[in-house]
Amino acid sequence: MTSERTWAEVDHFYARLLVPDDPALDDALATSAGAGLPVQQVSALQGRLLFVLATIVRANRILEIGTLGGYSTIHLARALAPGGRMVTLESSTRHAEVAAANLASAGLSDRVDVVVGEALDTLPRLAGTEFDLVFLDADKANNADYLRWAVRLAHPGTVIVADNVVRGGDVLDAGSIDPSVLGIRAFAEALGTDRRLVATAVQTVGAKGYDGFALAVVIDR
Ligand code: SAH
Ligand code: DHB
Ligand code: MG
Repeated sequence: MTSERTWAEVDHFYARLLVPDDPALDDALATSAGAGLPVQQVSALQGRLLFVLATIVRANRILEIGTLGGYSTIHLARALAPGGRMVTLESSTRHAEVAAANLASAGLSDRVDVVVGEALDTLPRLAGTEFDLVFLDADKANNADYLRWAVRLAHPGTVIVADNVVRGGDVLDAGSIDPSVLGIRAFAEALGTDRRLVATAVQTVGAKGYDGFALAVVIDR
């Protein structure tokens, strides 16, 4: 049977073939590691998934919650339609500073606003903007609230992507007291009961182990 090592090796096999040397992304990873940021960014192939999805929806407006060093931000911002803009929300001033530098190196500063603050405090500022794609990747405890905001800031056709909805299977633990697990479980409930959403969950293995994404589309009803 396959092992976690095989998952990582297959990830690298495809990353080598599909995500060739990319100085801006490589620099962003090196700068983030050098600054001591946690290594929690999406994998190279997952970043490409974000790019593919944003391209499919011809995204003009992208919202990200949870910037870290801007690695996923670079993938997403590169997929913006001409003239498009991205907003990414980050509670840590230091993470936001590293991200801003990485976005500048990637030549994307003109398209991306890094907004510093707790997302639940800064999201109200975005009221009135309709986003075409929303990526939820911050503190999992607040994920159900982030989903409500995402739907509020959406239009029919908006795609919502949430990272880390499996967590090695921890999502199954109904008795968990881990705020992240409770948050993901509340998020999953909300995903299933919101009549404006049609959603699925995609389990993933790879360089980041066993986890998964929720993918949802906002429909008109
Ligand atoms: N999307 C990034 C990874 C994000 S890691 C990537 O794939 O490259 C999660 C980030 O969310 C961290 O930088 C953390 O500081 C931030 N965060 C945690 N709680 C937050 C909150 N309440 N509001 C905004 N950002 C938050
Ligand atoms: C971790 C991974 C993530 O993708 C994230 O958003 C937060 C934390 C982790 O590996 O702990
Ligand atoms: Mg994540």
